[in-house]
Amino acid sequence: GKVAVLMGGTSAEREISLMSGSGVLAALRSRGVDAHAFDPAERDLHELREQGFERAFIALHGRHGEDGCVQGALEMMGIPYTGSGVMASAIAMDKVMTKRVWIAEGLPTPAHVRLAPEEQSPEAVAALPARLGLPLIVKPPREGSSIGVTKVLEAARVAAAVEESLRHDPDVLAEAFIAGDEITCPVLGEGESAHALPVIRIVPPEAGYDYQNKYFTDEVRYLCPSGLPEHEEREIQRIVVAAYKALGCRGWGRADLMIRASDRQAFLLEMNTSPGMTGHSLVPMSARAAGVSYEDLCLRLLAAARL
Ligand code: DAL
Ligand code: MG
Repeated sequence: GKVAVLMGGTSAEREISLMSGSGVLAALRSRGVDAHAFDPAERDLHELREQGFERAFIALHGRHGEDGCVQGALEMMGIPYTGSGVMASAIAMDKVMTKRVWIAEGLPTPAHVRLAPEEQSPEAVAALPARLGLPLIVKPPREGSSIGVTKVLEAARVAAAVEESLRHDPDVLAEAFIAGDEITCPVLGEGESAHALPVIRIVPPEAGYDYQNKYFTDEVRYLCPSGLPEHEEREIQRIVVAAYKALGCRGWGRADLMIRASDRQAFLLEMNTSPGMTGHSLVPMSARAAGVSYEDLCLRLLAAARL
């Protein structure tokens, strides 16, 4: 039957989603799937049913795509979709809610402070360095692709970082910075079948890993195999699968972590429930290292689509 590749959308990650969706669309078509692009920014989602789509591959990122809203609409229309359901998508979209679940489960994540709109007095903002140490990270809790993220090196810069974050989200998340290796690790499956793919180690240029070099330059080096000791890679995979299950994820996901240089302790930063599928993206890279081609990955995700 007809498959809709949902791509584009209205979030700040629209541009990335269009790249992910084009890749997925071409891959599915190359394997004979009757797949069609569908941009919910341009068309009403309810047209899916009128036009006879039987399944949806969600290649949307960010709000109204990765956050449970589209998943809920598809539930209501009875159209099976790839990836996590409404609740896991909604929790994972919000990095603060995600941390609360992980903390409750005893999973490691950096110390944080959430500033809701009524908690953003100049005094509260100025107190962040004393509470979290420096450097610290300020980010909008419900964004992706590093949009609105600032690494604060000096106390005098924290107010500007909060202001930048507020351009993207009325809540602010401040997090202790973990100095060490930047790591990402995909998970496929659900419940007992959930399993991690190979770990990727990200080696960014001096200036850091940001929106621009994530997608549009070749300045970042990605190591997969990670080059980490076997026991460390296993431990990261164990934590990531536990983190995925704690959120109730299904289908696929990709956790981002830091490994603290001083003691090699892993810290979970976030779970992406609709990870990037662009030419620069990391789930396809890790899958390839495990012997799964981009096309096979897309087919497997589609085969697991459900309500
Ligand atoms: N939010 C981007 C798409 C990712 O995590 O891959
Ligand atoms: Mg993300």
